[in-house]
Amino acid sequence: MKNEEILRQLRDAGGYVSGQELCEQYGVSRTAVWKAIRQLEKDGYVIEAQNNKGYRLVEKDGADIFTKVEIESHLDTEWIGRELLFLKETTSTNIDAKNLAEKGDPAGAVVVADMQTAGRGRRGREWVSPAGKDIYMSLMLRPQCRPEKASVLTLVMAMSVLEAVQEFVSQTCGIKWPNDIVINNKKVCGILTEMSAELDRIHYVIIGVGINVNQEQIAVEIQDKATSLCIEGGGQIRRAALVARVLHCFEENYAIFEKDWDFSGLVDKYNSYLVNRGRQVRVLDPKGAYDGIAKGINEKGELIVERGDDGKIELVYAGEVSVRGIYGYV
Ligand code: BTN
Repeated sequence: MKNEEILRQLRDAGGYVSGQELCEQYGVSRTAVWKAIRQLEKDGYVIEAQNNKGYRLVEKDGADIFTKVEIESHLDTEWIGRELLFLKETTSTNIDAKNLAEKGDPAGAVVVADMQTAGRGRRGREWVSPAGKDIYMSLMLRPQCRPEKASVLTLVMAMSVLEAVQEFVSQTCGIKWPNDIVINNKKVCGILTEMSAELDRIHYVIIGVGINVNQEQIAVEIQDKATSLCIEGGGQIRRAALVARVLHCFEENYAIFEKDWDFSGLVDKYNSYLVNRGRQVRVLDPKGAYDGIAKGINEKGELIVERGDDGKIELVYAGEVSVRGIYGYV
């Protein structure tokens, strides 16, 4: 009998669940059930106990219990996140996930943290990672495809985060190519994907996701570019439930990608989420910046840009250049 199973039962029941029922279902003693309930209470849950009725979970509005048990009680995946490491504090979940991969853990292992002391963003930037408000998580995969095929995995994650987040906020979420999730033209999520591979074989891929969830204020320096789900009208969100939904959506989208190790089954959906589509963008190509209209992405995940100067179509690869909006971040 696992604590997350009891938690899930209490939540799903919505009312009282008898102690006897729990004992019979898990084949354990009343004392074992009582101990599990005590542990859940210690973790912050409010559970009412009544002699003739049993136990009832009192869900507090806005309570954001962020623990392994809480995440697992929401998790409905088959293999993603079934091995879950939860840390109150760490340097970077991408580093932790890499360590799991190096010691031979199976694909699908996930690391989630409440705080990072050395959170990393793309292009060597720092990812500020305070405690108690946001989500920092990394997923480890071992795709059986050629390394060049794996670059779209970061896009698969972007669309999965978007789909999950969209269940929690009423504002429309979009993707800023290649993998930032934006609401009202401001970033709420960033993704950092790292890979260990030989020329023709992948050892593992780590997809790190940082989501600004319950921050009520964003640092002044980044207020014009970044926001949080809470600020954008999501209210206080239960992070554990959101983590579980991200993993659920990823598992579904990955199954489509994995069929032929190809993005073609997902490209239309991705393009429907792309906020840059049809907008003017500035492509910061090391060979020379140019402006154009973003047309969407192709099956390789490249952004199709029609140049403003000569109308030529350029295919922009995410690793090489960055793309900005002309009138702001998007
Ligand atoms: C970006 O620059 O947009 C990418 C940010 C990625 C941040 C996440 S938080 C979890 C994981 N661990 C890290 O150190 N970085 C990623």
